[in-house]
Amino acid sequence: VPRVRNDTAISDIERGDRLPETNDQFDLYASDMAGRWVEVWRSLQEQERVVHSDLYGGYYVLTRHADVCAAARDDDTFSSYHDTRGTGNGEGGIVISPNPFFNGFIELDPPEYQMYRRIVAPWFAPANVKRLAPLVEEATIAAIDLVIESGQIDLVMDFAKPIPAAATLLLMGMDVEHWKICSDAFHEFIYLDAGTPEHDGALAKHAWILEELQRCVTDRRQHPRDDVITALCGAELGAGRPLTDQDVVDTLYLFLGGGLNTTMSLVSHALVWLDDHRDARQQLIERPGLMASACEEFLRWCTPTQGLARTVTRECEFAGRQFQRGDRLLLTWAAANVDPEVFDRPEEVILDRSPNPHTAWGVGGHKCIGANLARSEFATMLTQVLTRLPDYKIDRSAMRPFPKVGLTNGYISMPATFTPGQRVGAESEIVRRMGLGKHDVTGEERESHG
Ligand code: HEM
Repeated sequence: VPRVRNDTAISDIERGDRLPETNDQFDLYASDMAGRWVEVWRSLQEQERVVHSDLYGGYYVLTRHADVCAAARDDDTFSSYHDTRGTGNGEGGIVISPNPFFNGFIELDPPEYQMYRRIVAPWFAPANVKRLAPLVEEATIAAIDLVIESGQIDLVMDFAKPIPAAATLLLMGMDVEHWKICSDAFHEFIYLDAGTPEHDGALAKHAWILEELQRCVTDRRQHPRDDVITALCGAELGAGRPLTDQDVVDTLYLFLGGGLNTTMSLVSHALVWLDDHRDARQQLIERPGLMASACEEFLRWCTPTQGLARTVTRECEFAGRQFQRGDRLLLTWAAANVDPEVFDRPEEVILDRSPNPHTAWGVGGHKCIGANLARSEFATMLTQVLTRLPDYKIDRSAMRPFPKVGLTNGYISMPATFTPGQRVGAESEIVRRMGLGKHDVTGEERESHG
């Protein structure tokens, strides 16, 4: 995998299966976080403002909203930088477990990441999201058309996974037929154990993606288009420093890493919660105006990206603790989102919660640049499910959350049934190119749902 730029073997990453008795062994990636994240974060928060764990080389967990926000706003003291080339001070980037992967400008500090953001901002701005919205809606309608006569759907495999992948690929100007390898690569990497053949398979998918991104960059340098890849190819990081192929590939790779798992997680969790709360589902059907606040509330509650790391750049006192240069810190968006100092009844989903200063998009300069797109996808996807499959029922015994949710609180599979309905006969070139309807939960080819 070309992104491995230092000697840390991925198999060195320690991973626990169970949450320990004591906080000094707290494992963000423990498998029993799945389904219990609110309880776990609330409990840590009640015990300590800052938890220290000895795992992964040692890291601190910020559990309170005010501390998470203050640290996220202080790039100088809490660096996102990932020193994969050994040219810095060994900063570890935004993922707690030691890893050799450079994740693009999300792992740079000011002023560099701000320069990247300025270059790509027009593609994430409301006007461009609005331009993409009819395409995302077309794909969503057609994806439901594929299953609607059968009364069966896998809400993740057939829906929450492919549609956000298509939206991100469309935004990037990439071919939507690559949606599956892209989303599988990022999904599998989150939860498969290093050293297994399946994990090696996921690494091979990442290698393929990087080659494909390089191919796109080479193509756009020769044949410019009106897309973000071309814009990056022609951009400079300050005067006289044109972006290299590697810089552009890193940035595109970040868009895939940022856009796929996260939106899948948000939509999936919303659908699970609405399966448990039928009255609220009915309320959302009757009052579509609630969709925007519901989206933010589901984000708060499920927090797709549970937390991201920073490296302390200087000795300092913060949140009542003394920190040393090089200390690793988890900005726990998910814990901040259930802080009773900020949120009334934090364990409950309140569809019209206002104000809702949640941290699920991040806070400060690195705050999610894809938020407009994700919100638009969410509204389109939820609207389609609620209007066309209003009585969907999830098969809980077959539902599979990610076994490890520390990085992304997602799902692998979510079979559901509903009263069959009519196709609307939507033609979608996007869905045809994606080959939707041809895969089942094991990744095997299948004919169609119908
Ligand atoms: C529900 C969906 C999403 C969630 C919960 C989410 C979450 C986040 C969070 C927490 C950050 C802050 C990172 C940090 O502080 O270190 C972030 C940054 C980012 N997100 Fe998202 N994201 C979502 C959707 C998207 C989409 C759809 C895209 C692109 C297609 C995207 C691209 C990015 C990028 C490029 C950054 C880095 C920004 C920077 O470093 O300046 N995200 N996201």
